[in-house]
Amino acid sequence: MHLCPNGHEEIKDVEVRALDTIFTLHADHEQNASTTVVRGVASTGAHPYVAISSGISALWGRAHGGANESVIAQLEYIGSVDNVEAFIERAKDPDDDFRLMGFGHRVYKNFDPRAKILKGLQDELREELNLDTELMAIARKIEEIALSDDYFVSRNLYPNIDFYTGIILTALQIPKSMFTPIFVIGRTVGWITQWIEFKKDKSSKIARPRQLYLGD
Ligand SMILES: CC(C)(COP(=O)(O)OP(=O)(O)OC[C@H]1O[C@@H](n2cnc3c(N)ncnc32)[C@H](O)[C@@H]1OP(=O)(O)O)[C@@H](O)C(=O)NCCC(=O)NCCS
Repeated sequence: MHLCPNGHEEIKDVEVRALDTIFTLHADHEQNASTTVVRGVASTGAHPYVAISSGISALWGRAHGGANESVIAQLEYIGSVDNVEAFIERAKDPDDDFRLMGFGHRVYKNFDPRAKILKGLQDELREELNLDTELMAIARKIEEIALSDDYFVSRNLYPNIDFYTGIILTALQIPKSMFTPIFVIGRTVGWITQWIEFKKDKSSKIARPRQLYLGD
């Protein structure tokens, strides 16, 4: 990725480890929204490419894999360390739909173990690559406040895996629009495995949740 357009560029070991770790940690993760979509499409007898592309569409949303892209867009929007507190106040305001991207998880109501590993790598990258940017400073201040503020602590809203992948992929100079494709490279291993598992299970039937009509 870093060969063009300037020819050879030294890639540090920590950069290789960071990308490898992101791929490994994203390989599979239970019945999240996109994996459930992949299995649902597989259940109709559709081709695996179609099932995977449906999974990609589900993954792209900002409440799911698209969150890391939103994290960086939000840090850019906040713009300065001096603005962080005002945005934290907005995130806490029940009448404001502003949410802090990269915080909270549908299942983990504690520190996601994957996020802990990536936090370590983020700190290593910051040191080895001398990433002394305003974006990094804003991220660090948000992390500090959210880990100690009663609103976030009492609701168990910890920095999630997307908070750290957003920062790590930015440090690796990968553009925001490529974050979902990077996630997909890792997750395709799991999606294909789920697809195979579904196909091998002779008792599998087409996905068909029931609807309970409550209207007129
Ligand atoms: C991930 C997410 C969708 C999980 O949603 P959820 O499990 O339905 O969480 P809830 O909506 O039940 O949240 C519980 C409380 O925390 C608040 N909350 C949740 N995530 C929040 C966030 N990121 N910023 C501010 N407040 C948040 C909710 O408003 C709610 O407050 P209330 O109890 O006063 O009503 C949600 O945390 C979110 O939108 N996070 C930001 C996007 C993100 O990082 N997604 C990637 C997930 S890996």
